[in-house]
Amino acid sequence: MESLDIEQPQALIRYLRRTGRVGAKEQIQIRKLTGGVSNRTVLVERPTGEAWVLKQALPKLRVPVDWFSSPARTHREALGLQWLARLAPAESITPFVFEDRQHHLLAMHAVGQPHHNWKSLLLAGQLDLNHVRQFGALLGTIHRKALAFKKEISRIFGDRSFFESLRVEPYYAYTAQQIPTAGFLTNLIRETRRRHITLVHGDYSPKNILIYRNHLVLLDHEVIHFGDPAFDLGFSLTHLLSKAHHVTALRPALAQAAKYYWQVYIEVLDPAEGTTDLEEQVVLHTLGCLLARVSGRSQLEYFSQGERVRQREIVMGLMQDPPLDVPRLIEEFISRLGSHAYD
Ligand SMILES: Nc1ncnc2c1ncn2[C@@H]1O[C@H](COP(=O)(O)OP(=O)(O)O)[C@@H](O)[C@H]1O
Ligand SMILES: [Mg+2]
Repeated sequence: MESLDIEQPQALIRYLRRTGRVGAKEQIQIRKLTGGVSNRTVLVERPTGEAWVLKQALPKLRVPVDWFSSPARTHREALGLQWLARLAPAESITPFVFEDRQHHLLAMHAVGQPHHNWKSLLLAGQLDLNHVRQFGALLGTIHRKALAFKKEISRIFGDRSFFESLRVEPYYAYTAQQIPTAGFLTNLIRETRRRHITLVHGDYSPKNILIYRNHLVLLDHEVIHFGDPAFDLGFSLTHLLSKAHHVTALRPALAQAAKYYWQVYIEVLDPAEGTTDLEEQVVLHTLGCLLARVSGRSQLEYFSQGERVRQREIVMGLMQDPPLDVPRLIEEFISRLGSHAYD
């Protein structure tokens, strides 16, 4: 089989023509998209006005430390794309176009222009509660609706090897080797592996949200699996709280936004069987991710060294006696940021 690198425009055009995905003489425009680290991502514009995004998983991620993961995860993302289109609110998932399992290639519709990356808006100090509400409702809807297809989803998404290699190891296991947490992280790993509850996105972050016509579109489904929904909450709350830490002008507003996000999520989830002890696990994942993003293999790039130290100390303190619910965790984290001796 001929190898293919979709970042080589001529090779990609030849491939798309040869496989009949586009016409033999069709003049298409190709542009590399940046922002991701684990895939080659390319925009293909057709003369018809139709536009696709092609993704091809990299065997070695584009991060400073060595980090490998099988490119077969493109197939997982393709399955995720198709299932999420059935589960998530209308227009929040980009329609699937085609998949090539030999070349680990996936094509989906491109989100129209103009659109904005939500992480960039937040870091620029632009917070809109309507986006926060949609962020909570989108996740709550996926988690709740997937419960109704538990049998099928557990079969299709039961393999957790990508979640293990892209999340459990680099976030929790590696951090546990670096930082003494008195068993906090190893217990969290054990409990997470025990939980098989619903469909979990695994990369639910503002970086993977585009805002188009004031509507959230979710991207990047390669870590999707059947597992512990509390992980998605802890992972995403960590993004909101770390931005509350970093963007000081927006700190009180982002703290409120984090509470609002949780409140909307819970209302939409309407806790059903299997999710009743969710909140305690969400607190633990939030603490685990808050620490992992300053001490694990995958650290938040916008933090200064001082911010890393401050977040590490505060979270290690909270791990000794974790707050009992999410709002209290948010309040404690924010209040300790304000009084930390580092300043
Ligand atoms: N369907 C799409 N429409 C428009 N832009 C997209 C689409 N998919 C990806 N992108 C752009 O490419 C970037 C990387 O894509 P992503 O799926 O997040 O890949 P990675 O796994 O490498 O993070 C996104 O942040 C976004 O800017
Ligand atoms: Mg991404």
